[in-house]
Amino acid sequence: MNAAANILHKQVQAKPDSVLGLATGGTMLRLYAEFIALCRQKSTTLSKITTFNLDEYVGLASVHPHSYHSYMQEHLFSKTDIDINTTYLPRGDAPDPHQEAASYETLIKNAGGIDIQLLGIGKNGHIGFNEPSSSLASRTRVKTLSVGTIEANRQYFPGDCEFPKMAITMGVGTIMNSRECILVATGADKAEAIAKMVEGPVTASCPASILQFHQNVTVLIDEQASSALQMRAYYQQVHPRGYNND
Ligand code: GLP
Repeated sequence: MNAAANILHKQVQAKPDSVLGLATGGTMLRLYAEFIALCRQKSTTLSKITTFNLDEYVGLASVHPHSYHSYMQEHLFSKTDIDINTTYLPRGDAPDPHQEAASYETLIKNAGGIDIQLLGIGKNGHIGFNEPSSSLASRTRVKTLSVGTIEANRQYFPGDCEFPKMAITMGVGTIMNSRECILVATGADKAEAIAKMVEGPVTASCPASILQFHQNVTVLIDEQASSALQMRAYYQQVHPRGYNND
């Protein structure tokens, strides 16, 4: 996690007006905490960056406590000097979600594209909310959430709050257009998805597997998430001390 925070931090140091693609989910919490700590320690300003999040739930207003807007506000934006006017997420409560998705795609393009895109991965191999069978060329659009994804993310919707059935998500093609991707995963329940992504065939059945075609991807995983990789010994031979960006 430290490695991912380091990569982000170095990116902003080298290019203060970077365009960062951001992600949500439990995995990102430690990463954001470490990134914030690094920025404070090194007095790095984030005031010139632009951010685009991967996705948002359809039907949730920005101020909804379980929206990804709220997540970002709570875990990153409010703790830094990021200019809130240059942080973007799709609007979940837009009157026309399809139009909102198309506009979001244009916003990313007009910002000059994404320098570094942060990614987590779903147990079924989704990135953003691109569920298995998503077109590998897809752009930002409305996607129906799978039962498995709803179950995995229900933990973040305590109480009786009804879980959204759809999301606006950057497409697989949108993600592939970013100049660099950092995918982070921890824990045994991500092991199968990681193995399929890294070593399986490139297939819409595991949308993350398209990253095999990306020119600049770093995969940062812990021991447990690496446990199903067939070529684990080889990766350890190549990176005996793990990823070291210092
Ligand atoms: C959601 C998000 C994904 C994220 C995934 C994994 O589905 N849309 O972007 O990668 O959750 O989340 P977690 O880190 O909580 O396992």
